[in-house]
Amino acid sequence: MSFFVAADAYDRFMGRYSRLLSPQLADLAGIAAGQRVLDVGCGPGALTSELVRRLGPEAVAAVDPSEPFVAAARDRHPGVDVRQASAEDLPFPDDAFDVALAQLVVHFMSDPLAGLTEMRRVTRPGGVIAACVWDHAGGKGPLGAFWQAARELDPGVHDEGDLPGAREGHLAQLFTEAGLTAVDSRSLMAELEHSTFDEWWQPFTEGVGPAGAYVAALDPERREALREACRALLPDAPFRLTAVAWAARGRA
Ligand SMILES: C[S@@+](CC[C@H](N)C(=O)[O-])C[C@H]1O[C@@H](n2cnc3c(N)ncnc32)[C@H](O)[C@@H]1O
Repeated sequence: MSFFVAADAYDRFMGRYSRLLSPQLADLAGIAAGQRVLDVGCGPGALTSELVRRLGPEAVAAVDPSEPFVAAARDRHPGVDVRQASAEDLPFPDDAFDVALAQLVVHFMSDPLAGLTEMRRVTRPGGVIAACVWDHAGGKGPLGAFWQAARELDPGVHDEGDLPGAREGHLAQLFTEAGLTAVDSRSLMAELEHSTFDEWWQPFTEGVGPAGAYVAALDPERREALREACRALLPDAPFRLTAVAWAARGRA
């Protein structure tokens, strides 16, 4: 499981982009004082931090199946109820929250419909469910150049493009299938400056997520070829990367 990695490695790899999405997803969900909120698939806590900043730790709960991420999220957010659990089997009673969020998680759920249905169950009637997934299908997520280079060298590679929610409109479709109402969708954007090519590349070598697992499985020669193919696709450093995520919001 490519998320049983150190929280710091995650921060350097995906966390550098996901923390830029957190305020946008919180805005989309209409997070406001007085609400009780659940962060599903919290990882080390990019979105959890934003929720704590807005609501205070006592109003926030979070779950993730990854033991090191749960430990880091607990450590970083004293007072938050962080539990080791999956979206498909949430350890909370019905109607426990005003809002349930999943930032960059639905595509990793073993059963996204079951996960979203659980998020609906633990949210009070009329409460909000919101989620986002990178545009892996359109290649505009933060891993677009990486998977394009990988495909050039290995046309059969699994580039995450077929994962649930990773193409335009699919997250909203899943929300509707999970019984959510008043479903709407939009895109979110994360912009990050990379000072050098190596600063961009190095986190790919730390084994985080499907991309990190792919790099880790390559022999040194193929890894170097992939690195150079990525370099050829990216602008000269410093360069600014703009990453798009598809987001959806609905009501329980
Ligand atoms: C890309 S990370 C996103 C972490 C965090 N939400 C963020 O925005 O940085 C995906 C997370 O989903 C978690 N995850 C994987 N399968 C899951 C499931 N079935 N239910 C809940 N979380 C899951 C992983 O452990 C990982 O922490």
